[in-house]
Amino acid sequence: MKKYVLAYSGGLDTSVMLKWLQLEHHVQVVTVTANLGQQKELDGVGTKALVCGAKNAYVEDLRRDFVERFVWPTFKAGALYQGVYPMATAIGRPLIAEKLVEIARSENADAIVHGCTGKGNDQVRFEVAIGALAPELECIAPLRTWDLKTREQEIAWASEHGIPVAASRKSPYSIDENLWGVSVECGVLEDPWAEPPSDCWQITTDPCLAPDKSETLTIDFEEGIPRAIDGQNMSGVELIESLNLIAGSHGVGRIDMVEDRVVGIKSREVYEAPAATVLAEARNALEQLTLDRETRRVKLLMGQELARLAYDGFWFSPLRESISSFVDQASNVVTGQVRVSLYRGTCTVLGRQAPRSLYQGALATYGEGDAFSHDSARGFIDIFGQSTRISSSVARSANPDPSAIPGKPGALV
Ligand code: ARG
Repeated sequence: MKKYVLAYSGGLDTSVMLKWLQLEHHVQVVTVTANLGQQKELDGVGTKALVCGAKNAYVEDLRRDFVERFVWPTFKAGALYQGVYPMATAIGRPLIAEKLVEIARSENADAIVHGCTGKGNDQVRFEVAIGALAPELECIAPLRTWDLKTREQEIAWASEHGIPVAASRKSPYSIDENLWGVSVECGVLEDPWAEPPSDCWQITTDPCLAPDKSETLTIDFEEGIPRAIDGQNMSGVELIESLNLIAGSHGVGRIDMVEDRVVGIKSREVYEAPAATVLAEARNALEQLTLDRETRRVKLLMGQELARLAYDGFWFSPLRESISSFVDQASNVVTGQVRVSLYRGTCTVLGRQAPRSLYQGALATYGEGDAFSHDSARGFIDIFGQSTRISSSVARSANPDPSAIPGKPGALV
């Protein structure tokens, strides 16, 4: 009998799938549930899988790995997909894929099964990652092929086959959650004009209902990674968990976007990422102080590239690894403290300091003790602007029309 490894969340789709694989594919099923810090769904998930006929049910606490190997490298790079989305869902997938492969090998399984739909990004991420790590393993995606087209049909199929479905959890949304953020889509959110209803938000307080009193925090960074809040050292998992609670209670970290999926469609999704939002503001402030201009410029570009790779499912790729090496090297100097204030949906940087700050008061001041070489400015500008003086004078001699003023479109060509 063949054996399949199923990525099992315990939700409706994968619960139905677990039974369906046994009945329709006549295979043994081993389930794998990854704990990436999602609050819901983990209770009793292993037992539930075994009750539904799984041969073995793995529930793996991957939170630390997630933070150290996926969240921090993405965060340090400043990678936000389309400038906005911190990619909690996107960077969880390669780690889950890695665990699925590991267990598939130790269980001698023939295939990996996932519960992603045929028009999302996650199928791409799982299958590209599994292809990179274990090209010999087959990937099966029942949602792309089976006849259960609606949620109602799945529920009917489930009750026909004695699968326990928590009817109370009939949320109109599709929610994916981990430590780094919550992704919410479907229901009324499918109308891009519709305001997100209050019940779609899972971990943040409505900014209008948040305390009318700001809260100030000091965050310590070491080489681009946050290590302490208000002087209290914490593990990455603890730090993100506690910052999610604090910033979430001030309504910080709500994101509403229409994004471009890999498969060529636009979708509207809302995200909640309180810790990611605060930490990004703070890290940016520290980079402004500690990175030289050229490194900042290139690092920004690298962050955009890393976002694209991670979003598209190319975490396990040579380019992603090279970019991460660059980011690690560039972040060596990003050590210091940032003070932020949280208030009704906003996070404002109040101050920053760093042992290797490149900020030179004597060069920046407009007051006493100015050390800047004002005399050199003139020669600097002379050389700096040389190329545009040349091009405009050549353009003028080619086109002596006095109405061709430089600055007017087409005047210099
Ligand atoms: N659009 C996000 C991404 O592709 C999240 C996808 C999963 N969202 C969900 N609500 N289940 O990374």
